[in-house]
Amino acid sequence: MEFTTIKVQLGESMAWVNLDRPEVRNALNAELIRELTEAFDWLNSRDDIRVIILKGNGKAFCAGADLAYMKEMAGYSYNQNIADAEKLSKLFQTIYFCDKAVIVDVHGACIGGANGIIAAADIVIAEKETKFAFTEVRLGLTPATISPFVVSKIGNTAAKELMLTGRRFSADEAKAFGLVNVVVDEAEMIDTERQYIEYFMQASPDAIAECKHLLRLVSGTADRLNPVFYDTSVLIANQRVSKAGQEGLTAFFEKRNPEWFK
Ligand code: COA
Repeated sequence: MEFTTIKVQLGESMAWVNLDRPEVRNALNAELIRELTEAFDWLNSRDDIRVIILKGNGKAFCAGADLAYMKEMAGYSYNQNIADAEKLSKLFQTIYFCDKAVIVDVHGACIGGANGIIAAADIVIAEKETKFAFTEVRLGLTPATISPFVVSKIGNTAAKELMLTGRRFSADEAKAFGLVNVVVDEAEMIDTERQYIEYFMQASPDAIAECKHLLRLVSGTADRLNPVFYDTSVLIANQRVSKAGQEGLTAFFEKRNPEWFK
């Protein structure tokens, strides 16, 4: 398959997927969201693939939603906005419901929507200098479509602290909050990744798929038709066009503080 915003490389039983918009820190625009969803759907349908490894090219894993594209959505109709937000939710769902083992390597920064990606994955390896944040409230938005995956992964106490403050936190804190599995030096990244791949290669691929289903089942997140996916899409669609959302997004690109900032 041909992609422009991601790079996909197939190996024996494995696939490497790299986000490839380094100039904007791999921010998630409509095209990247579409291509990444397509790539995961495609890899999930392949019997020869057992492990998917996701990374970001350039200085950072991912700066979350592309704010230029978010801002632009204000000019679209209400229904177009909801349909578009649903595509973002669908991306996280596609990763979350994927039958393959999904490893994500993060470095640099992992902001906003990027945390939806890692929360939907199975194993997250973080380079120790990675900066994390759920910046949405500072932008007049909420971490809407990612919340079902993040809250299911880290629980309400951590989600309240991180989503309501919007503060930066370190890789070590991310590990303490249960958002990442391992924190490593850059030089240890590949060996750590290899170790997990080895575990997954010793497990039956069918059992991995079933075990992922089992874990969704016991944590109450196995329903693909859960209305929360639609509801959170409506929420973010509304916020993007709201006064606060537009002020926050405008302030970001004007490199100034928004009007509520004290
Ligand atoms: N959407 C659109 N463009 C973005 C972006 C985003 N989420 N994040 C970064 N960019 C752009 C910047 O505007 C900048 O563009 P410019 O070169 O035209 O000025 C370029 O990417 C590089 O960003 P910069 O901030 O200079 O990189 P950095 O390596 O110093 O910092 C981050 C990286 C990710 C920490 C920082 O870019 C950041 O905080 N981004 C915003 C993240 C965010 O709040 N996302 C929203 C989630 S809902």
